Amino acid sequence: MRESADQARSAAPAGPALVASFDLARLDRAFLDDPYPTYRALREHDPVHRMPDGSCFLTRYDDLVAVYHDAKTWSSDKKIDFKPKFGDSLLYEHHTTSLVFNDPPIHTRVRRLLAPTFTPRALKALQPRIEALVDRLLDAAERGRLDMIDDFAAAIPVQLIGDLLGIPPSERGPLRGWSLRILGALEPVLSKDQFDAGATAVGEFKDYLRGLVARRGRESLHDEAEILSKLVAASEAGGARADDRLSEAELLHNCIFLLNAGHETTTNLIGNGLVALSEHPAQKKRLIEHPDLIKTAVEEILRFESSNQLGNRMTIERVELGGVTLGPGTPVTLCIGAANRDPQQFPDPETLDIGRTPNRHLAFATGAHQCAGMALARLEGAIAISRFLARFPNYALNGPPVRGGRVRFRGFLSVPCAVG
Ligand code: HEM
Repeated sequence: MRESADQARSAAPAGPALVASFDLARLDRAFLDDPYPTYRALREHDPVHRMPDGSCFLTRYDDLVAVYHDAKTWSSDKKIDFKPKFGDSLLYEHHTTSLVFNDPPIHTRVRRLLAPTFTPRALKALQPRIEALVDRLLDAAERGRLDMIDDFAAAIPVQLIGDLLGIPPSERGPLRGWSLRILGALEPVLSKDQFDAGATAVGEFKDYLRGLVARRGRESLHDEAEILSKLVAASEAGGARADDRLSEAELLHNCIFLLNAGHETTTNLIGNGLVALSEHPAQKKRLIEHPDLIKTAVEEILRFESSNQLGNRMTIERVELGGVTLGPGTPVTLCIGAANRDPQQFPDPETLDIGRTPNRHLAFATGAHQCAGMALARLEGAIAISRFLARFPNYALNGPPVRGGRVRFRGFLSVPCAVG
């Protein structure tokens, strides 16, 4: 049973040998299956770990918080970093135009324009829609078997972001594939096939959205949740102050980013949560008996198996961190997955405890770039997991779950499951 495996792992000695050889560019299957022993060894022995390419890998909670809160020293702008990797491709255009990979003033302006999408009022309007969608998916699963990812977890964010962008249901088929391919290009090591697939996906998605924006100009939608019209207005003369306007490229790439930001991450929150609960039966039973614990349970799942494990920054000036001096222009990887199991911040960090409070995890980062969609993600996670448990309390994995095989986005591609 997984509970005893976790306990055994946390008792195992951390290995300095794991640390010396750690290189994000050379990861093996064992690491991708379970990165936590390596994260632990790094945190204990070399928390500001220099990798062969000169970049650094950070694993301590306090170091990540310090970096996230000091945007003057640690830049999110990826133009320098992505040039050698993406050249002049559409992947370069996309990733360097998204707000997440920009500093002020671009970041501040775009973030302000997106803000109305995620107000408590906007979320309240979305809640009955998420509940109805989840119930429809659960009704379809009554037949006895389902793939927890394809038939449930992945369907929720894609449909919801489809609603937000006002994409007609019959046109949503390619969205998931586009998003997976564009985000796949952010993995530390990129094959030519992954690069080509990512660049093609940006082109197809951008063309599709350009057509959608043109149609939106001709026909208005009467859907309170739809935000594309608001963003189009923010890109037009008269819709926003001239220095506030979104360019066409900013409009299209930030819409693409919204799908990417909210799709795989939320799929993984729901999938990781249901798998973790089935592997920790005592916690599953506790949540079934005390459904009011769903909010703390979602936070604990986000901490324990963070869907987005890595973030990135680059030093603007010379800086000292954890006794190591970093010169200007040093790329750093912020390991959210390691920080969220730092014993200095979380007592008994390798244990899944659905009632854990306080739980100031970094799954959504912190500081100026903290996830803009975190309230929506929390709402989707809570509705999906609690309704699944209520409908199928005896659900069980029905074959080995297949991991996505990615280091940045941690989750499953497929989880066969029996619900009868
Ligand atoms: C469990 C689900 C999610 C997780 C774990 C997650 C995680 C994150 C993280 C860690 C960042 C910060 C990146 C950085 O600065 O390095 C971020 C940014 C962002 N996320 Fe999320 N996210 C989730 C869901 C969503 C959803 C549902 C949306 C919207 C539909 C969304 C929209 C955004 C946006 C717009 C940003 C950029 C914020 C900025 O740069 O100011 N996210 N997210």
